[in-house]
Amino acid sequence: MDENVDFNLMQLDLVSKDVKTVAINCLQWGDTGKGKIVDLFSDWADIVARGTGGDNAGHTVWYGNNKYVSHLIPCGDPSKTNLMGNGMVINPKSLTDEIGMAKVHSINHQNLMLALNAALILPFHIVQDNLSEISAGENKIGTTGRGIAWAYADRINRSGLFVNDLLNKDSLARKIKKNYETKKFFFNSHDSQLVRALLDSMRLENSLYWDEKNLFNLDAIIEKYYFYGQELKDLICDTDKFIRQSVGHKKIAIEGAQGLGLSNKYGTYPYVTSSDCSPYGSAEGIGLNYSQVDLSLGIIKAYVTRVGNGPFPTELGGEFSENWCNNSSIDREKELSILKGETKFDQGNIPSKDFMFGMKLRSIGDEYGATTGRPRRVGWLDLPLLRYAMNFGIKDLVVTKLDVLNDCDYIRVCNAYQYSGPQYNYGNKTLIPGTIFRETVMDYDVIKNCKPIYVDLPGWKSDIGDCKKISDLPENLINYLDFISKETGASIKILSTGFRKENIIFA
Ligand code: IMP
Repeated sequence: MDENVDFNLMQLDLVSKDVKTVAINCLQWGDTGKGKIVDLFSDWADIVARGTGGDNAGHTVWYGNNKYVSHLIPCGDPSKTNLMGNGMVINPKSLTDEIGMAKVHSINHQNLMLALNAALILPFHIVQDNLSEISAGENKIGTTGRGIAWAYADRINRSGLFVNDLLNKDSLARKIKKNYETKKFFFNSHDSQLVRALLDSMRLENSLYWDEKNLFNLDAIIEKYYFYGQELKDLICDTDKFIRQSVGHKKIAIEGAQGLGLSNKYGTYPYVTSSDCSPYGSAEGIGLNYSQVDLSLGIIKAYVTRVGNGPFPTELGGEFSENWCNNSSIDREKELSILKGETKFDQGNIPSKDFMFGMKLRSIGDEYGATTGRPRRVGWLDLPLLRYAMNFGIKDLVVTKLDVLNDCDYIRVCNAYQYSGPQYNYGNKTLIPGTIFRETVMDYDVIKNCKPIYVDLPGWKSDIGDCKKISDLPENLINYLDFISKETGASIKILSTGFRKENIIFA
């Protein structure tokens, strides 16, 4: 924790004495700076709990000049109870590594809790994820390759394993073998050398699980998973019961993972992750009902990013940007060298001004995946998406990364979409070219055909790093926030104006 920062959340009207359970969720496609906000609330909370996703997430927190990224353990004060709930999917190797890495950073978690009924990620899931992405070619989702969808799928189709299975070697062995039976056909229908190559990675213990004759060495998996069970056994417990006993008495901060647009239930399906990472799902994933949440805070970034494939109406540079960011040869260094003029684009591959502007914002905002290092696609703020998000019982917003827009001459905001696809029936409505939406429609066939209608606002063209209170902020920035509030009915409560913990303003 940064000792120079003294935040008293109780001074805020919104965190009154009666508020015991706070949910903090991203309302876009993830990567909105949740880590910093959850960290802030962890000073107030007794328990920080996460209920969805797995090591596909990456939450970045800065401690002084040290950057720390967590993938599974909730962010924030390690002296508090940090709980991983039943709705998560756990890769025991990633969790063991992460606990070790935290110690290296002198972050000593004093009370980690892992739900005994969270789903387990098996090596099969990681290989399945990568094989299915390779087979999908152009139609791939652009997953993080961590086996997330396949672990959730097993849970749904009743063949999955749970964290508690790590503790009982005999039943672990029986269940792993049974699980493999359901997958044999899938693996045998792929090139065995490709399976071999995928298993030859650190994440998969450098070929430990490879077997020349049977593809997977089940005994090695059983041994290793049992070993991880022994490593993690002190954490594994009935977190549902603990939360039921704590709610209403203890202060709970629920850490959302990913974002509403990536929710399997409410996002841009099929370009989503495989959990319900909406505000509803994040509460359910720790064993609560959303109605038990006293304060639901939505986080938006001052612009929007998206990683992987999927519709993104306000993307700067459109399809060119999507292809560029999903090209595995592009990384931060390559983009920096382009921005400095040291590397040129290939002939015939000349990008638009919008794309170049998006690349500049990407580099200023350091928009490269915390989990995979992939460049994030960048676009303007999308109010139809925000209006949709506000249906989830959210009124109060946190706006992050405002400083990234410091140099913009103008700030563009998408205030509505215009549909430009073929005639399409959506429930009892028939969409025709020209139909205007004020609120996003989460149907891939609709959203992929929506063009943004923009409003341009003047930029503030100044550094906001030293601003400590609302009255320090430039007028054009205030106008930008007022525009968001006026157009959506949202109430903006917290602003983040830089990556450090002290770069925060309470409105
Ligand atoms: P999966 O969760 O690895 O299956 O990936 C499914 C989709 O969700 C892909 O488009 C990923 O890029 C995206 N995704 C998963 N986790 C995150 C995250 O933490 N931030 C942003 N996008 C994510």
